[in-house]
Amino acid sequence: MTSSAPSVALVGATGAAGSTVLQVLEDRNFPLRELRALASPRSAGRTVTFRGEALTVAAVEAVCLEGCDIVFFAAGGATSKEYAPLVAAGGGVAVDKSSVFRMDPEVPLVVPEVNGEKVREHHGIIANPNCVAIPLSVALAPLHRAFGLRHLTVSTYQAASGGGRALREELETQAREDAAGQAPSRKVYPHVLHGNVVPGGWRMYGDDTEEEVKVVQEFRRLLDLPELPVGITTVRVPVAVGHAAAVWIELESEVTPAEARHVLEGAAGIRVVDDPASQTYPTPREVAGSDEVHVGRIRRDPSREHGLALFVAADNLRKGAATNAVQVAELVLEYR
Ligand SMILES: NC(=O)c1ccc[n+]([C@@H]2O[C@H](COP(=O)([O-])OP(=O)(O)OC[C@H]3O[C@@H](n4cnc5c(N)ncnc54)[C@H](OP(=O)(O)O)[C@@H]3O)[C@@H](O)[C@H]2O)c1
Repeated sequence: MTSSAPSVALVGATGAAGSTVLQVLEDRNFPLRELRALASPRSAGRTVTFRGEALTVAAVEAVCLEGCDIVFFAAGGATSKEYAPLVAAGGGVAVDKSSVFRMDPEVPLVVPEVNGEKVREHHGIIANPNCVAIPLSVALAPLHRAFGLRHLTVSTYQAASGGGRALREELETQAREDAAGQAPSRKVYPHVLHGNVVPGGWRMYGDDTEEEVKVVQEFRRLLDLPELPVGITTVRVPVAVGHAAAVWIELESEVTPAEARHVLEGAAGIRVVDDPASQTYPTPREVAGSDEVHVGRIRRDPSREHGLALFVAADNLRKGAATNAVQVAELVLEYR
């Protein structure tokens, strides 16, 4: 750890997103003077591994955040709401994974490939979008810039780890129980997820899931398209890691699949994986562990004027959460 480098804390270091932040900080060789691992009192005294060494986890308190230059929050909205303003008031920057600040006009909502320059506008808190809004915006911003986006329809296929460590563990337990011929148990989710596909499980806002509302609001904000018509159904599938989405878009003018593919191939953060004749397209299992948003099945959608269909997949814990947050922190350091 170097002395000119920032002092960093990670709140939620034991969780699905937080433990991936540790991995991504290590993978990207993020500069650090010190790293404090924080979580709830339940985890105080436990250790997490960083750069091959054990870091002892402390229960988060205001005092743990004093003097920090950057604090990653991956511990849910209530914790971010309580502590992120303290970080900002102390002159540090809170890079928040929760949803509490995402629609706050004073807080930039940032995906570096889409609107990285917004990092410059922060007042001590920077929000990261939802794990579907991130890959969707990375995949569609280049097409919007080149051709103008007029309409969006999405159906998601979201991994259990998107619901946190507990849902991922529940899916693994259910798989073992099913294999042993036992009735699958259920504690944290309203349905058995193993062997199932569930168009819900989130809190409802009228007829829409909270996830659908978040993705639409955040996607519109990221692309600065406040009136964009969007239809969406969010679905949980029995996959450990990797969110996918079937996407249908309508553009301002006619665009061939080859033209769209060309634009996407030149865009940051995207890997085009698109040769259906050889069964080559993105799948969650294959994108897990990658930091890129994978796009394939790029073809015409004949049901709409200037319509294109595509399939998008990304690692929800990396680009959908940790990688985006670490990239944002890298921009904070670059711009300071
Ligand atoms: N999972 C994803 O794909 C994903 C993607 C984007 C954004 N996010 C966001 O990231 C955040 C964490 O989600 P997750 O999926 O990682 O959940 P998770 O696996 O359940 O982990 C939650 C983490 O928060 C800690 N925590 C819980 N309550 C706390 C409290 N009162 N004070 C301090 N720490 C507390 C937990 O510590 P203990 O171990 O001590 O309980 C754990 O480290 C959420 O805001 C979520 O919306 C997640």
